[in-house]
Amino acid sequence: MSMNSTEVRCLIAGGAGCLGTNLARRLLDQGAHVDVVDNLSTGRQANVDRLSRHRNFGFIKMDVADPAICRRLQRRRYSHVYNLACPTGVPNIKRLGEQMLMASSAGTLNLLKIARRCKAKYLFSSTAEAYGDPDVFPQAETYVGRVDPVGPRSPYEEGKRFGEALTRFWGGKYGVEVRIVRIFNTYGPAMSPKDQRVIPQMLTRLIAGRPVPIYGDGTQTRTFLHVDDLVNGLLVVVEKGDSGEVYNVGGDEQITVRDLFSAVKKATGLSGEAAFRDHFIEDHRGRWPDTTKLRALGWRPNIPLEAGIRQSYQDLLASMEIKPARAAFGSARSKDGSGPVLGDRPQPAAP
Ligand SMILES: NC(=O)c1ccc[n+]([C@@H]2O[C@H](COP(=O)([O-])OP(=O)(O)OC[C@H]3O[C@@H](n4cnc5c(N)ncnc54)[C@H](O)[C@@H]3O)[C@@H](O)[C@H]2O)c1
Repeated sequence: MSMNSTEVRCLIAGGAGCLGTNLARRLLDQGAHVDVVDNLSTGRQANVDRLSRHRNFGFIKMDVADPAICRRLQRRRYSHVYNLACPTGVPNIKRLGEQMLMASSAGTLNLLKIARRCKAKYLFSSTAEAYGDPDVFPQAETYVGRVDPVGPRSPYEEGKRFGEALTRFWGGKYGVEVRIVRIFNTYGPAMSPKDQRVIPQMLTRLIAGRPVPIYGDGTQTRTFLHVDDLVNGLLVVVEKGDSGEVYNVGGDEQITVRDLFSAVKKATGLSGEAAFRDHFIEDHRGRWPDTTKLRALGWRPNIPLEAGIRQSYQDLLASMEIKPARAAFGSARSKDGSGPVLGDRPQPAAP
């Protein structure tokens, strides 16, 4: 951070989630003051509890779409507002679609108002899904995407696109220093055992000794970025990026879901079967970020996939309170039989 770190007062909306809690920890470690506002819809109280050990940390349990948030927070003189608040996970779209739309629209507006009042820098976390099911590879920020505005994924995709439009518009109209990041699949410590995105789902299923669903034939591709590299990217964008600009942040090595499953088993030593099935929603064939723009600011990803998965696995075991010697779920053992045993069954994964 280029400012004196004691002058840095950050509001992180969605800070009880995986990315927000890692961002909060990094900023606190650098000496900043951090408030998290979160309604805990997909985030975790355990993440908040861990952050609460820092004396410069505050937590407000609130929905960002509630207009009362402006009155409550606009006098706190934030220097930075990070908007990461949105329910996540494709399987959650059916259940939380309306909340996705409201967080990305009303929530984004409320947080922009706070940033304007505080004269804070504002960062909006958008998604690779703003590109929809792309027909251009890799996706550069200039690519406008292929999105069905009324398709089954639209509450998330169109919500984020609306959030981007509002952020850009407000930046121009009211002189708020705004930046937009389009985040591609990111994983790492502090993921919830209930998270049904691909890496946590593979890990929790393997730990439980249950088949891992792979949709279609598993040849769809994704890229994966460790959350530490993501946090580096967000901070680089905020410090060195241009106001009003959009930046992709993601891993740039493509891997099929089928190969990811092998990589997860190799990294953890767990064994298990894949259950191939039709997708419950339209799937995207591939996603691949062009990160040239972010790299031009000096950013590079550092953490290899296998090491990152191993670390995420250890973190999930700890958060699931895996007991070392319970025999009940023997299938949770690692290949050599020395691995842990599940103490707390994870939630069922997506249908
Ligand atoms: N992790 C990824 O791969 C990825 C990819 C693309 C975009 N993103 C975006 O990054 C952000 C953080 O994602 P994450 O992976 O940490 O997900 P997450 O689900 O772990 O975190 C999202 C947080 O937002 C909170 N939240 C949701 N609606 C809210 C509301 N109305 N008011 C207050 N809090 C609310 C949730 O409780 C949760 O703590 C999200 O906006 C997500 O769309 C993440």
